[in-house]
Amino acid sequence: MKIRKCRREDLEDVCEIERMSFPYPYPKIIFYDYIEKLFFVAEEKEKIIGYIIADNERNLIVSIAVHPEYRNRGYGKKLMNHVLKFMKGKVFLQVRKSNKSAISFYHKMGFKEIKEIKKYYMNGEDAILMVKKIG
Ligand SMILES: CC(C)(COP(=O)(O)OP(=O)(O)OC[C@H]1O[C@@H](n2cnc3c(N)ncnc32)[C@H](O)[C@@H]1OP(=O)(O)O)[C@@H](O)C(=O)NCCC(=O)NCCS
Repeated sequence: MKIRKCRREDLEDVCEIERMSFPYPYPKIIFYDYIEKLFFVAEEKEKIIGYIIADNERNLIVSIAVHPEYRNRGYGKKLMNHVLKFMKGKVFLQVRKSNKSAISFYHKMGFKEIKEIKKYYMNGEDAILMVKKIG
């Protein structure tokens, strides 16, 4: 498995994983905006099987997803640990309150729940704000 920077030509595969992973997937245009940021893909035998995006100006994990067939094999953890090497201080993220598996994953990765943000998402769902202190 290799983790490398995401390139434009990877975006179709990233969007495919996005569509399989989220009820409200980000459109491709959103991913273009992040290509110059902390945007990494995990590659297994030349197939993209996961991605992570972070924004170190906002100290935020923007998104992470692993292809459904490759979950629970440590790829998410490797992607997260990789991106955190480029960040410092308090790193934040928001997650849908209903996304229990992601919340468990983030707890395992050392993130703590700080508060709920009511009706944060377009469909009216609440977000959980989480934080991890680096260094
Ligand atoms: C969240 C996600 C990225 C995790 O990736 P993954 O590759 O399956 O996670 P890993 O195999 O690296 O797991 C790392 C740790 O989290 C735990 N974990 C992962 N998924 C879990 C789940 N559904 N329930 C409980 N714990 C879980 C693992 O047991 C592991 O713990 P360990 O280090 O003690 O062994 C993946 O499930 C996913 O793509 N989900 C859909 C997209 C999503 O919800 N993204 C987050 C949006 S905010």
